[in-house]
Amino acid sequence: MNNEYLTIALGKGRLAKSTMKLFEKIGITCQEMEDKKSRKLIFVDEEHKLRFFLAKGPDVPTYVEYGAADIGVVGRDTILEENRNIFEVLDLGFGKCKMCICGPKEAKELLNSKELIHVATKYPRICKDYFYNKKHQTVEIIKLNGSIELAPIVELSDVICDIVETGSTLRENGLTVLEEVCDLSARVVVNQVSMRMENERITKLIYDLKDALNENPEFN
Ligand code: PRP
Repeated sequence: MNNEYLTIALGKGRLAKSTMKLFEKIGITCQEMEDKKSRKLIFVDEEHKLRFFLAKGPDVPTYVEYGAADIGVVGRDTILEENRNIFEVLDLGFGKCKMCICGPKEAKELLNSKELIHVATKYPRICKDYFYNKKHQTVEIIKLNGSIELAPIVELSDVICDIVETGSTLRENGLTVLEEVCDLSARVVVNQVSMRMENERITKLIYDLKDALNENPEFN
């Protein structure tokens, strides 16, 4: 944490792009970040005393919990999965998608049975919470790091617990949504100490972002 600058961690990728567009609407631009060739990791906006850095999505809650970033922007999936001690303060509305249980349509029957179900996922915590605490069902969770849709096709698992946005990955692979776990979108998270120590600046920033979201419906 830094007394002069507020540090903001952004999850790399689409969310970071939309987030910077939203910041532009409140007069905060960070030209340096636009340079695709640059290997620079941290960007400073001297005028507003802000520092931005890009990190892998799952690392954003970690930076925020430890105070290396005062504020973070990351998907709700990552927040739920990482389960860090941070405040979630604003739903940005973009990056909308759903966490779902998916598989071949024949697996629907299995999901309603008492049989042991094998579930492949990048999100073992979310998956465990859904099956154990909500459905009271015994499952074997198989952790994967990507291309989760492959698992039922090659019979590594019966179903998957994964993010569905447009549904095209499922369709192109002969899979379907069997159950919905929860809604997801981009969220602003804040370090708990920063929220007290820098309350005025952080609260103003959050309200400005909120107003910008209301004035610019394209973000929804
Ligand atoms: C995500 C998710 C699905 C896909 C869903 O994967 O895990 O595979 O997007 O999007 P759709 O419903 O619009 O097809 P991502 O592209 O992040 O890569 P990954 O498979 O490596 O996790």
